[in-house]
Amino acid sequence: MADKKIFIFDTTLRDGEQIPGCKLNTTEKIELALKLEDLGVDILEAGFPVSSPGDFSSVQEISRIITRATVCGLTRAVKKDIEVAAAALKEARRSRIHTGIGVSDYHIKGKFNATRDEILQRAIQCVTWARNYTDDVEFYAEDAGRADNDYLARVIEAVIKAGATTVNIPDTTGYCLPGQYGAKIAHLANKVPNIDKAVISCHCHNDLGLATANSIEGIINGARQIECTINGLGERAGNTALEEVVMIIKQHSQLGFYTNINTKQLNPMSRLVSDTMRMPVQPNKAIVGANAFSHSSGIHQDGFLKDAITYEIINPEEVGAENSKIVLTARSGRSALAHRLQKLGFEYTRNDIDVLYEQFLKVADLKKEVQEDDLRELARQYQQQAVNA
Ligand code: KIV
Ligand code: ZN
Repeated sequence: MADKKIFIFDTTLRDGEQIPGCKLNTTEKIELALKLEDLGVDILEAGFPVSSPGDFSSVQEISRIITRATVCGLTRAVKKDIEVAAAALKEARRSRIHTGIGVSDYHIKGKFNATRDEILQRAIQCVTWARNYTDDVEFYAEDAGRADNDYLARVIEAVIKAGATTVNIPDTTGYCLPGQYGAKIAHLANKVPNIDKAVISCHCHNDLGLATANSIEGIINGARQIECTINGLGERAGNTALEEVVMIIKQHSQLGFYTNINTKQLNPMSRLVSDTMRMPVQPNKAIVGANAFSHSSGIHQDGFLKDAITYEIINPEEVGAENSKIVLTARSGRSALAHRLQKLGFEYTRNDIDVLYEQFLKVADLKKEVQEDDLRELARQYQQQAVNA
């Protein structure tokens, strides 16, 4: 039975918006925030309030209008950041401060020129500051993916003791293999004595195309929150795609997880984000790509037309996509041709289709895709040949 709730933490408006060219103004952010709340996200990361006056006012306005989701603001481990985030979130019904610091040796030495102990103290300090403003504090251990697991466990234990209620374990550089990331989460779930006082969160980047796989491995090993974005938008190669993790959880109910996402809104949400951020979705993108429910090769089309389940694991209606499409190309077969002609009102016998198919292949070899107008022309010529015969 699927009885373990996975909290969906959407960061489209923060990590997603960091992509060059995807910056949103306050009006756009508000529109997306309302739709994300409607979609059913549990936590909405609205921005990084200290980063600019515009982002401060976006987080403030979103805090005023969101009623069900928790509104979250990002900070560095800096007192001023936390004060500004708290001010921006002040009117939210439920607010969360997301604060943290780099914990891999690459960050400790390369970014902070500090020691592990100094960073541990700064981690405790930022959570303590944040707890002055809200009971809901999430700590991010930046670059946890490349951090030493024992040191990471020490940091996580200390920040929970200081009052963190969610502990985010980001694979900031998208470096981990699924087995490594899963083992990291299991290490924390098993070795941190006070881990039962916090929710473990996965925040995976997609530099090696593993963000979704790593997030799923994270929840299998004890995490209960996934940080993700619509269409997988985010820094560099992006973040975990919300639509992918939600549908994996739904398709694989044997894992025992569920989310509150209304999956019928996934495709409309994807289109809205793509249009608002002016960032096209690749056609072969899982769940929301234009080809996600298109069948073009003869073998697949024949099977699909006999029984959709042969080549489709998700009914497009379930994710708010248009009906499955039978696309005609030079790789298509007779069943697909007969099906598309029938949809245009042309009924043919098997013998007719055999003849028409030869004509169709000539057209298909000249074009990437055979369109309705081409089919009408084929039917017209066939009729003409019959009259002339
Ligand atoms: O990728 C990352 O580590 C982040 C943190 C700021 C949560 O986005
Ligand atoms: Zn990130």
